[in-house]
Amino acid sequence: MDKLVIEGGRPLFGEISISGAKNAALPLIAATLLAPGLHTLRNVPNLRDTRTISRLLESFGACVTSAADGVMTVNADNITNLEASYELVKTMRASVLVLGPLLARFGRARVSLPGGCAIGARPIDFHLQALQKMGVRLELAAGYVDAVVDGTLQGAPIFFDIPSVTGTENILMAAVLAKGTTIIKNAAREPEVGNLVEMLQAMGADIEGKDSDLLTVRGVSRLKAVDSSVIPDRIETGTYLIAVGAAGGDVTVNNCRPNHLPSLLHKLRSAGLTIEEGDTSIRVVRNGPLKSVDVQTRPYPGFPTDLQAQIMALMAMTDGGLSVIHETIFENRFMHVAELLRLGANIRVDGRSAIVKGTGGFTGAKVMATDLRASASLVIAALAAKGVTEISRIYHLERGYDNLAGKLRAIGARVQQMPE
Ligand code: EPZ
Repeated sequence: MDKLVIEGGRPLFGEISISGAKNAALPLIAATLLAPGLHTLRNVPNLRDTRTISRLLESFGACVTSAADGVMTVNADNITNLEASYELVKTMRASVLVLGPLLARFGRARVSLPGGCAIGARPIDFHLQALQKMGVRLELAAGYVDAVVDGTLQGAPIFFDIPSVTGTENILMAAVLAKGTTIIKNAAREPEVGNLVEMLQAMGADIEGKDSDLLTVRGVSRLKAVDSSVIPDRIETGTYLIAVGAAGGDVTVNNCRPNHLPSLLHKLRSAGLTIEEGDTSIRVVRNGPLKSVDVQTRPYPGFPTDLQAQIMALMAMTDGGLSVIHETIFENRFMHVAELLRLGANIRVDGRSAIVKGTGGFTGAKVMATDLRASASLVIAALAAKGVTEISRIYHLERGYDNLAGKLRAIGARVQQMPE
């Protein structure tokens, strides 16, 4: 396993280019299963997770190519296996996204239950209940979901108790080839869902309500292969903006979508950063003291739970400020706190709230990554810390950040990746 060694205390200057969004690429790659022919996906990030879902599609019989320029092709003509194995699914929960398209096109699928992960139990009951309403018969046995459709999937009225992102995406992909109309109420409104809607519409799907919490899908008889693009990664964008806030400096983030980060930009301005928005760029400058802000994570367009760990590292650096960070989405998303304490933070967790008292900065230490976004939080703290920080188990980071060390070095950070 590798570690990152970061010599902190150096302000960051220059430009960073954002890669395609992990959480958009995964449903788009799964959606290629819905239609035979050659699909082209552009701006696909080179991540552990995109490589995992590519291997999953190949295990079904699809032919997948990935080029260095982010262009991926998928030919889903000859799908001969409909089982998603535990070995692959346990490394990436989002594998559950193959359930909808396999059922829509082939009428059956056998997908391993994902199991828990560091940030919570993360069940898939919303996905399964909705599929049952669409006529899917489910059997849970030996850690797998055995799903079979008698005849064809039927459109149905679906209501999500919580606006589940992958739940919305799974049901969208099931509904586009179902018989009749599916209405999804309390649907997730994340931009990544909108990216999937656009791809499905280009494939010939009949969907209304893009970017809203009410999606109406009228099933069609077939779909066609398309050429689609992955939207920029708003969480990668936010991570680098917060990193500059912590380390100081003046950086322009290019190839991003400022309008996908309304809540974060508001919070960073309130924290004292200068934020200049272009059409596809954001300039962030930190040349003054940080102010404490309170944060509550919420479904989009609220503050993203995937940036909670990162902004906690920033709040831990204020001069004696007090910030309350409330995590409403996941039940155990404070794994980064113990590691931040090792770097000198003063944070007390009380249930789903973390009370952060700014200590003015961090001191380098050896720490351990526990999950994807917790790892990003440790990188941010390390960039600001006095001295050297070693972050072990950075395979977590590689799941969601394309060339993080290289992008940070390009703006002046001292970051080396080496074997533990
Ligand atoms: C997606 O996960 C993202 N992953 C997550 O990003 C993100 O944190 C999350 O949405 C929330 O924005 C991908 O898009 C691949 P949910 P997802 O279903 O869809 C509960 C990252 O770091 N729930 O919106 O799995 C669930 O436990 C990852 O990139 C059920 O109870 O999240 C959670 O408390 C981490 N039953 C809440 O709903 C279900 O069937 C929201 O989860 C589904 C979800």
